[in-house]
Amino acid sequence: MFTQPIPTIKRDGDAVVILDQTLLPHRCEVRRLTTLDEVAVAIHAMQVRGAPLIGATAAFGVAIALMRDASDARLERSLEILGATRPTAVNLHWALGQMAGRLRPLDPSERVEAAWREAEAIREGDAGMCAAIGGHGYEILKGLAAGLDRPLRVMTHCNAGWLATCGAGTALAPVYEAQVRGLAVEVWVSETRPRNQGLLTAWELREAGVPLRLIADNAAGILLARGEVDVVITGADRVAANGDSANKVGTYLKALAAREHGVPFYIAAPFSTVDFGCPDGAAIPIEDRGAGEVCSVLGLAEDGALRMLRLAPETTAAANPAFDVTPARCITGIITERGVCEPGRLRELYPEAKA
Ligand code: MRU
Repeated sequence: MFTQPIPTIKRDGDAVVILDQTLLPHRCEVRRLTTLDEVAVAIHAMQVRGAPLIGATAAFGVAIALMRDASDARLERSLEILGATRPTAVNLHWALGQMAGRLRPLDPSERVEAAWREAEAIREGDAGMCAAIGGHGYEILKGLAAGLDRPLRVMTHCNAGWLATCGAGTALAPVYEAQVRGLAVEVWVSETRPRNQGLLTAWELREAGVPLRLIADNAAGILLARGEVDVVITGADRVAANGDSANKVGTYLKALAAREHGVPFYIAAPFSTVDFGCPDGAAIPIEDRGAGEVCSVLGLAEDGALRMLRLAPETTAAANPAFDVTPARCITGIITERGVCEPGRLRELYPEAKA
């Protein structure tokens, strides 16, 4: 079974320790978060990122917030502050909803321990869901690889690996499962401008010994057209009730090109990413992260320092929608912890879910 080489989040006394993803892949540094504000900033600034990890971090943030004051007012304020950190990944609201449901009925004197326990349960639950997604996704990869005399070529976008979760990842969990079981795969990793989360994917795959090739985002179309991709798998930040799926901007273009060239396109996502309250993709809020990320890039300078470089003059107008929505009709299937289903049939997997 795949285990995280470094925990993406773990409790350390009255604090949590996270891996600062804004420095990867150049520096591997952990940070100790001790206050509600530090947790909120870590999520907003993307020191932690990836829908499932954002949710777990927010849950721990509630526990930290209650350490000195576990009153009703403090609980509600912490839910509000953490809930406003990022808009698209519904795992954030799912995790805060779990915390609220568990903590609101309790007397303040019982809340702190219960909050840590619930946050830990969310972390462990996510790791379990990743493992199950890995198992179901592996069966798809095995089927596609049958009869091939070469490695199976998987394309992914953004980072939906262990860095984005509390376990093996979502889109990359089947890849790690294939590696564990001896099925040869290689991965096309698109850089994912403007924040370049593809570099995180390339880093974690390389560290795990999985063959990969990093590509410019714009190269995906020609690779799909040339038949150099056997399957596309990405994660999601919010899946609507009809299967429309929001994920990192650029996912939609890959799905369109995959459909045009007859390549299967899968979304891998746990229950915490599904929002039955959203009827379709039009209802999913899309984060706008501002012009700065488009006009600049962070990289390693020749002197070994991490430097932010300006790509476009300061006065350049730019737009930065951080996610896009892939319509259900472009999705071959959704790989969940309960199995794989057609996007329009999610309800059958989760009959207990409320709208
Ligand atoms: O902005 P990010 O880096 O938090 O966006 C992450 C993604 O879009 C991932 O693909 C998605 O959250 C799935 S993570 C398992």
